[in-house]
Amino acid sequence: MELFRILQSQGIGTRRDCHELIRRRQVWVDAELVTDPERDFSPDGLRFSVADSAFEYRAHAYLVLHKPAGYECSRQPRDHPGVFSLLPDYLLRRGVQSVGRLDQDTTGLLLFSDDGRFIHDHTSPKKQIGKTYQVTCKHDYSAALIEQLLAGVQLHDEPLPLRARLCSALSERRLTLTIQEGKYHQVKRMIAAAGNRVEALHRSAIGAYALPDDLAPGAWKWLTESDLLALKSNSQFSSNH
Ligand code: URA
Repeated sequence: MELFRILQSQGIGTRRDCHELIRRRQVWVDAELVTDPERDFSPDGLRFSVADSAFEYRAHAYLVLHKPAGYECSRQPRDHPGVFSLLPDYLLRRGVQSVGRLDQDTTGLLLFSDDGRFIHDHTSPKKQIGKTYQVTCKHDYSAALIEQLLAGVQLHDEPLPLRARLCSALSERRLTLTIQEGKYHQVKRMIAAAGNRVEALHRSAIGAYALPDDLAPGAWKWLTESDLLALKSNSQFSSNH
C-alpha cells in the first residue's frame, strides 16, 4: 500500500495532508526518512512516526477509555463535554464510535472502535455479553433486594422482567451486578424497581475483561489481542466473582 494511503487510513489527515507531510520530510518508517508518498509498504505491523509521534499500523481501532463522571457519550453533547473530546484527533478522523453508551454520571469502562462488526457484536443483546457494574445505593441493601434483582424486576416499558445475571453485596450500600442487555438507564431503573436508588455507578468489566487498575479516569489505551479475547468471554459467570 502506498505510504500516503497508510497514513490516511490511520487518521493522520486527508490524502493531500498525508502527501504534504511526507514531502515535507516529516515521516519516518522504521526509523528511515521517506519522502516519496507513493512508496509501497506492507502495512501489517508497520511502525512509523509523523513529526515526533510514533504510530503502529492497525487495520481497525479497538480501545478502552476510563470514562470520568460529567462526560456525555454523544458526538453532539448538550450539557457536558463529550467523551470524544478525550481522544486524539487521529482516532476521531478514523471514525471511532463508542460501543454503547454510559450515562453522563456513570464512570468506568467504555470501548471505542471503528469496526462495525465489533460494535454490533458488543451491543447486540443476542450475544449475551455480561456488563459488570459497581453500584452505590442510597439506602442500605437488603437480601431481598439482591434476590429481586436476580429473580427479575419488571420495568415500565419492557415486555418481560429483566434480571441480573450476577449480583452480590460489596458493603452495606455497595453492590456488584452483571447484566446482559444494556437497555437505557437499565441499572438505575432495575435498582429503582427493586425499591432502592443509585447514587453512583461504575462499569468495571465487560465479559471477562476488567477495566485496568492503572488506567486513570480520562485516559485510554489500545486493546491487546488477549483483551479482545477476554471481552468475548463470560467466564466470570461460572466463578463466584
Ligand atoms: N445502566 C444505567 O442505568 N446507566 C448506565 O450508564 C449504564 C447502565
